[in-house]
Amino acid sequence: MGVGNGMAKLLLPALLLAATACIGVHAKFSRYSFPKDFVFGTGSAAYQYEGAYNEGGKGPSIWDKFTHIPGKILNNDTGDVADDMYHRYKEDVQLLKDMNLDAFRFSIAWTRILPNGSLSGGINKEGVAFYNNLINEVIAKGLKPFVTIFHWDTPLALEDKYGGFLSENIIKDYVDFAEVCFKEFGDRVKAWTTFNEPWTYSYQGYAVGKSAPGRCSSYVNKNCFPGDSAREPYTVTHNIILAHAEAVALYNAKYKPAQRGQIGITVVSNWYVPTNASSAADVKAVQRSLDFMYGWFLDPIVHGEYPGTMLGYLGDRLPRFTAAQAKLIKGSYDFIGVNYYTAYFASAKPAPNGMEQSYDGDIRANTSGYRDGVPIGTPEFVPIFFEYPQGLRELLLYTSRRYGSPVLYVTENGIAEENNRTIPLEVALRDGHRIRFHSQHLQFVNHAIRDGVNVKGYFTWTFMDCFEWGDGYLDRFGLIFIDRLNGLKRYRKESSYWIQNFLKR
Ligand SMILES: *[C@@H]1O[C@H](CO)[C@@H](O)[C@H](O)[C@H]1NC(C)=O
Ligand SMILES: *[C@@H]1O[C@H](CO)[C@@H](O)[C@H](O)[C@H]1NC(C)=O
Ligand SMILES: *[C@@H]1O[C@H](CO)[C@@H](O)[C@H](O)[C@H]1NC(C)=O
Ligand SMILES: *[C@@H]1O[C@H](CO)[C@@H](O)[C@H](O)[C@H]1NC(C)=O
Ligand SMILES: *[C@@H]1O[C@H](CO)[C@@H](O)[C@H](O)[C@H]1NC(C)=O
Repeated sequence: MGVGNGMAKLLLPALLLAATACIGVHAKFSRYSFPKDFVFGTGSAAYQYEGAYNEGGKGPSIWDKFTHIPGKILNNDTGDVADDMYHRYKEDVQLLKDMNLDAFRFSIAWTRILPNGSLSGGINKEGVAFYNNLINEVIAKGLKPFVTIFHWDTPLALEDKYGGFLSENIIKDYVDFAEVCFKEFGDRVKAWTTFNEPWTYSYQGYAVGKSAPGRCSSYVNKNCFPGDSAREPYTVTHNIILAHAEAVALYNAKYKPAQRGQIGITVVSNWYVPTNASSAADVKAVQRSLDFMYGWFLDPIVHGEYPGTMLGYLGDRLPRFTAAQAKLIKGSYDFIGVNYYTAYFASAKPAPNGMEQSYDGDIRANTSGYRDGVPIGTPEFVPIFFEYPQGLRELLLYTSRRYGSPVLYVTENGIAEENNRTIPLEVALRDGHRIRFHSQHLQFVNHAIRDGVNVKGYFTWTFMDCFEWGDGYLDRFGLIFIDRLNGLKRYRKESSYWIQNFLKR
């Protein structure tokens, strides 16, 4: 039993006792504390892992362009090489097996399959072969592939041609890409998600411009490419939801009957706590915060319409679904993937005056990890994150309540430490904080299951240290350490042994 489990015992005695009470012969907290078919996995994404950015017939994506613009990414880091998983996938899948994991979550780089984004530009056979090899290797080692169709790497050709997700033209090209994936890989892939964290794509790419394609209003950030933080995020999300629904409809009609897989979407949300729980205004600010981050996606997909707090406030800045579209999107999932990292306090804030509208201002909430100088949970190395494991249970309960008890997977949950070359390797591999983090969050997932929430799996973020978008290689989120100074050699952190032990059969 690891350090983290001991800590959890001190912090959460009642919870641990309750967990122990119902698991019979397996006295300690382990995979046997969970339902028999519960899936334990870890996750990755093509741009963060594969490298080989211009090899094997791959076309450029908006991330290839964005990272090559000096000043956009910390230290001017790029994903050109990343973890070189494109060449090292066999060694990497062996590591997954060594950790006794049940599943591996990865994404398919759109431009490795369709180099210019469209079917008319041709299917890249080498790209198809790479994913066939990866999928076959994952299955050969006894793991289930959980495949993300889109993890932010929009084809550059489509961005240049019609503005990517700003245009409804993206819907047809996305569905064509998804269909190639179903056709080529669906005989072996039984768990699909259409999009990963569309909130992050819309918000970072179009509200604040920190991620590709890096657009925002000049009054939000002068260094963005010219955009419109008051409209573009809503347009992009609208097109993503329609693309998601069309792809699910296609899968259900044409592929599911024979392939018998499941399809869903992965969304991310913070948990929010009212700064003043007795203030009705703060309680409403919490609801608006959840609606703008989470309900923005889940309300349409589950109920067929955007949350009332958004409909009532945004006027014509929020596109509307036609009756036919509403019918198509409503119920367009077999499961929902939930990514969770942190919680914040939220209090009511007035809308900004005048013309400077933006997605952030629209929420009319002041959110912070601190209240009166006291953090909501232990501050992490990544300054926007605070350890608040009970928030994962709260979010799962909320999702179940509001969205009719869907099948849920926790598709991401994790913590980073600093990439710092002065730290000796043996110290860098000692990640007790990660053991504690996963142990505590898993306790709360377990608690949510006992509360009746239909959670079927838990994926750590992330398998190996990798390219963390705007932070480049600064944040190490992995179970596996990558030595970027010595040929990307892989080393197992302590947490990888903790997981291996936790999952031992
Ligand atoms: C990034 O590249 C720009 C342009 O070459 C350079 O001015 C800047 O110093 C670089 N930043 C870092 C951290 O290397
Ligand atoms: C992709 O290539 C095909 C064939 O060359 C061409 O017809 C199509 O317009 C291209 N699409 C884009 C978005 O560049
Ligand atoms: C919290 O809100 C209640 C109700 O508005 C108010 O009476 C109370 O003073 C507030 N507490 C603080 C610390 O602001
Ligand atoms: C936002 O919340 C923080 C922390 O609670 C507080 O320090 C700050 O004054 C608040 N700002 C506004 C505009 O309410
Ligand atoms: C790297 O770690 C050393 C030793 O722990 C510390 O003194 C230094 O501030 C760290 N460097 C950075 C850039 O944080």
